[in-house]
Amino acid sequence: MYLELSHLKKQFDGKDVVCDLSLTMEKGKLLCILGSSGCGKTTTLNMIGGFLTPDSGKILLDGQDLTRLPPEQRPVSTVFQSYGLFPHMTLLENVIYGLKFRGFSKADARKKGREYLDMVGLADRAGAFIHEISGGQQQRVALARALIVEPKLCLLDEPFCNLDAALRVKMREELKKLQRDLDMTMVFVTHDQEEAMILSDSMAIMEQGHLLQNDTPERIYRNPANDFVKRFLNLDDLIWTQDGKLMKIISHQM
Ligand SMILES: Nc1ncnc2c1ncn2[C@@H]1O[C@H](COP(=O)(O)OP(=O)(O)OP(=O)(O)O)[C@@H](O)[C@H]1O
Ligand SMILES: [Mg+2]
Repeated sequence: MYLELSHLKKQFDGKDVVCDLSLTMEKGKLLCILGSSGCGKTTTLNMIGGFLTPDSGKILLDGQDLTRLPPEQRPVSTVFQSYGLFPHMTLLENVIYGLKFRGFSKADARKKGREYLDMVGLADRAGAFIHEISGGQQQRVALARALIVEPKLCLLDEPFCNLDAALRVKMREELKKLQRDLDMTMVFVTHDQEEAMILSDSMAIMEQGHLLQNDTPERIYRNPANDFVKRFLNLDDLIWTQDGKLMKIISHQM
């Protein structure tokens, strides 16, 4: 397996926040970690990214043990909820920031930066500053900045939570296309069931630090591990059509 988390544990103040979490995923896939607020999603992601050290357990990526490496030594990029863009830099400068430490000449970095800005539809705004663009555009810059360093794994923590519903749907589609085009392996955290069902190749459903189920959306739909999963995903309100589409049953009350 490409990414392997085995028996990860993390406590804060003596309280188990992530309890013996093991999961695997294949290269080039998108895994959604889904669960209610406080269940340990961000903590799990931060352990994969290296921003938190697990109390015990192991993280392997493409055969390499990452468990004790600092974030900058991991072949992993993270897109945070708040984007973390630099306000005093242009879009292009933001996007190429990570190339500084990778031996690129300024000209090569700028060329590559333009390619990545083009990929997220912002080539014509390269010289703009962060405050001059919209939330959705900032999200795209953050994504380009994470992907330009060609990580083996890209982590995203609720990246669309600050966007309005329509833009969220659009960004979801764009992200999925980008992920497929680049054959990028992604772990995406969300507490939005619909988003997870639509986006993911596999879904890891967490509750109070425990992993309840990790499987494809369709297999979870057809065979939820327990009643909690069934209720949490509102499976009674969904239909999986013959052609593999997910539909919501809209109940009309008289
Ligand atoms: N640095 C910390 N110190 C103490 N407790 C923490 C710390 N970080 C997280 N926690 C606690 O660990 C639990 C899990 O937090 P985490 O941020 O992983 O949840 P989450 O699933 O990402 O939630 P949300 O959907 O609200 O972002 C929560 O009870 C939280 O209060
Ligand atoms: Mg979180």
